[in-house]
Amino acid sequence: MDTQTKDLTILTGDRPTGPLHLGHLVGSLEARVRLQHRHRQFVLIADAQALTDNVADPGKIGRNILELMADYLAIGIDPNKTAICLQSEIPALAEIAFYLLNLVTVARLERNPTVREEIRDRGFERNIPAGFLAYPVSQAADITAFDAALVPVGADQLPVIEQAQEIVRRCNALFGETLTMPEAIISDTPRLVGIDGAGKMSKSAGNAIALSIEADALVEAVNRMYTDPGHIRVSDPGRVEGNVVFAYLDAFDPDKEEVARLMAHYRAGGLGDVALKRRLAGILEELLAPIRERRRRFASDPAQLLAILKAGTEKANGIASRTALRLRRNMGLGFSML
Ligand code: TRP
Repeated sequence: MDTQTKDLTILTGDRPTGPLHLGHLVGSLEARVRLQHRHRQFVLIADAQALTDNVADPGKIGRNILELMADYLAIGIDPNKTAICLQSEIPALAEIAFYLLNLVTVARLERNPTVREEIRDRGFERNIPAGFLAYPVSQAADITAFDAALVPVGADQLPVIEQAQEIVRRCNALFGETLTMPEAIISDTPRLVGIDGAGKMSKSAGNAIALSIEADALVEAVNRMYTDPGHIRVSDPGRVEGNVVFAYLDAFDPDKEEVARLMAHYRAGGLGDVALKRRLAGILEELLAPIRERRRRFASDPAQLLAILKAGTEKANGIASRTALRLRRNMGLGFSML
């Protein structure tokens, strides 16, 4: 697809359940900042989706909404270019989701590999909230409500987008061209590993570096990073594969030639973890210091954050309610049929 086309709409979303971290930055936030100059963009704060696995603690969701706004603005999402909106304040999303639920089977929902993995991670076992199992349908409603053609997501969300595509195909086959077919854009940067080296960076695994991290906590996090347990003395040869410090230098050090030199030196022996970690901490501090500063300014004015969110949500309500009306009409529901 020609991703240069100006009139395409892009939608991305986040569940407001914790601070954004470096994994989000390289995985999707940088793409959003780039894409907002070329396309119409909505960023959805998916508080209703977050409820599907946090129903016993909705306060956590509410507390994270303006925090997420501050993160977005601090990394360069420009509210004049991107409409930031709040899912629960867009009733058409719930309406569309309710209709789309009839276009999927429970068996198909249970087969979604992303949802299966998340069910396992959350330990739901046989007590899966119906809303959680069906969240891909709600997400299909989000995507189609905005007429989104492009959805930049991490590779783990691909099965959710595929499910949205199936729903759109079925809907349009039954009711005529009603919903826009979405396409996923998968980031070509590999998933950033967590500081423990055990898996991808995630807030739930406790291995993340938040974009809002303070300078001293950042140094501590870098010092805790998993390296090569066999690299005991500086003179020992060290392993670069699976070494978190090198994974981060790869992702964040602008001087790739120097990284290649450091890798060779580390492998040969004679380069210590302490020196490497000092370099990485400096690079990350340079990246995060301006974000932290901008974030502090935005977070100090919650009224402004709320005003931005309300303006974006109003814009979202316009387009989502038009989609809901079109769907209702084409399905043959409502007064228009009488
Ligand atoms: N499921 C997404 C996540 O957990 C969040 C999300 C909700 C989303 N609605 C969306 C992403 C619409 C893209 C488009 O990250």
